[in-house]
Amino acid sequence: MQLLRRQLIAAGSASLLLPLLPGCATPPREDFKPVVGQAGKDVIWVPTPDAVVERMLDMAEVKRGERVVDLGSGDGKIAIAAAKRGARARGIEFNPDMVALSRRNAREAGVEVDFAQGDIFQADFSDADVVTLYLLPNLNEKLRPILLDMKPGTRVTSHQFTMGPWTPDRTDDVSGRDAHLWIVPAKVGGTWTVRVEGEPPLQVELRQQFQQLEGDALVGGERFALELPRLRGPAIRFDVRGGPGGTMRFEGTADNGGRMDGMVATAGAQPRRFTATRS
Ligand SMILES: C[S@@+](CC[C@H](N)C(=O)[O-])C[C@H]1O[C@@H](n2cnc3c(N)ncnc32)[C@H](O)[C@@H]1O
Repeated sequence: MQLLRRQLIAAGSASLLLPLLPGCATPPREDFKPVVGQAGKDVIWVPTPDAVVERMLDMAEVKRGERVVDLGSGDGKIAIAAAKRGARARGIEFNPDMVALSRRNAREAGVEVDFAQGDIFQADFSDADVVTLYLLPNLNEKLRPILLDMKPGTRVTSHQFTMGPWTPDRTDDVSGRDAHLWIVPAKVGGTWTVRVEGEPPLQVELRQQFQQLEGDALVGGERFALELPRLRGPAIRFDVRGGPGGTMRFEGTADNGGRMDGMVATAGAQPRRFTATRS
């Protein structure tokens, strides 16, 4: 594993010095045979083993009809496996010979996949529900702001490499290789005014570091730290102590536009609806 990592990293930095592989102008070769370790634009080609591919798609809970994109799709195996699960699969690959090969592989597998030649850093994949990666740590980090701007709840899964300070929500060991999963969190940091029917508005301050959340609430002029704050994609929950009826448990969904709604539960009372807006 260390060897593969060193190979990938060496090839990744060496590739900065290499001239680019032939672009669209060179027609792909029908007789092209890929070689594991061959140069790529930003990273060499090494295919993800089948068991890791399946685990990545399992972790991401790929559903029929969902849009799945593999960035740096190589021979197309991840996108093809996603298409076999009924996903609308797409692959973006810089090497035109690999694109042609992946199209042949999809045809042989009897599935439809949209394989496009292009640079992952120029491509628009913002409509994807699931993004799959087998790149390098520095490339994952470069993608991080783009991924964090995707809709809350988008799943990102990576073979082997992580994403710097954005720690995975889950990591599985598959025969010595890591499969990581991240759920894109809603952007919820800031000051919120929370309205619960029949109660004065409540001010809640949320501080967010990726999917990690903390904050406090101003209740009757007193500040209480939020208890059990949790953010998973658009789903948010936290407890506020010190309310008139005791601890209030807020559970709802947030969008990136500064709106939140859901239900609040207080011991011994019927759950009530709440809405919140960020100032
Ligand atoms: C390690 S391989 C992974 C292949 C495939 N995703 C898999 O897991 O089996 C990385 C792939 O990314 C491609 N690649 C490298 N830099 C790229 C870029 N900037 N844009 C698109 N593809 C790129 C390489 O040609 C190679 O096929």
